[in-house]
Amino acid sequence: MLKIALTGADGLVGSRIVELLSPDFEFLPLPQSEMDITNVDQVKKVVGDTDFDIFFHLAAYTNVAGAEANRDLAFKINRDGTKNVFDVASAKGKKFVYISTDFIFDGKNPPYYEDSTPSPSGIYAASKFEGEKILSDEATIVRISYPYRASFEIKRDFFRTFKTYLEQKKPLTMITDSLMTPTFIDDIAYGLKHLFNNFTPGIFHLVGGNSLSPYDAATLVADKFGLDKSLIGKTTYEEYIKNKPGLPKLADIRSRKNVFWKMKTFEEGINEIIKQT
Ligand SMILES: NC(=O)c1ccc[n+]([C@@H]2O[C@H](COP(=O)([O-])OP(=O)(O)OC[C@H]3O[C@@H](n4cnc5c(N)ncnc54)[C@H](OP(=O)(O)O)[C@@H]3O)[C@@H](O)[C@H]2O)c1
Repeated sequence: MLKIALTGADGLVGSRIVELLSPDFEFLPLPQSEMDITNVDQVKKVVGDTDFDIFFHLAAYTNVAGAEANRDLAFKINRDGTKNVFDVASAKGKKFVYISTDFIFDGKNPPYYEDSTPSPSGIYAASKFEGEKILSDEATIVRISYPYRASFEIKRDFFRTFKTYLEQKKPLTMITDSLMTPTFIDDIAYGLKHLFNNFTPGIFHLVGGNSLSPYDAATLVADKFGLDKSLIGKTTYEEYIKNKPGLPKLADIRSRKNVFWKMKTFEEGINEIIKQT
């Protein structure tokens, strides 16, 4: 069985991947409490002492709005931390898989495929892109977009935020003229299963089967769960980003290289969540 050492195993995305793929791989989580990726000595010791086939790097500073105010920390974790773990894993001759984000595209010229030119527009995006650039051609970069799952108490994904607001009868103001590509995390896991078993260096987009506006996404959530659609107000992208910089406008992300796992549309993902809960 392949041994996969991983950072970020307790996060929104990582914890579901471990949950789903534990029958297939031996996961060796390296939590921040044992190894802060910004601490070079700790990384050398822990990664050096761990026996693994693939290093799977999910850990990141993921707060998009927070990154604007904490630029140095975002770069320290997302760029320098990635360099620290990559240097040690590659010196051991191990395979490396990095999770990146669709935010590295500025959303001005969609659609975006694996070979589209990145142009990050916020600090979080810039720091994640720096992480990509550190890796050699020998690594696999997997870009994901708006990940969501059936349940996770520790951190709300966008789907849970929409649903919770509507359940609590709180108004939501959603953008009508931008696009997002929601990605069911279970699909990311099964796509990764293929990539772990058939390690291929390069960039892959593991992203949802369709793109839609946040307004349409929230409306779909309301429809599927019988919640009150009249709580969903409308706004424009230009209005919205006055208070929230770093959000790409037309995040229509697609893949030409994922020919191995069919990714669900947002509606199919919600249907699956309804089955799972
Ligand atoms: N969530 C999204 O919307 C989204 C979208 C596109 C791409 N991604 C990418 O997907 C990956 C996983 O995201 P996520 O949402 O699952 O993350 P998350 O829930 O915010 O979890 C982040 C993880 O990184 C760990 N971490 C943070 N700083 C660390 C450090 N200095 N040393 C070691 N570990 C550290 C955290 O450990 P602690 O729990 O100990 O703090 C946690 O396990 C990230 O690379 C992110 O950039 C996420």
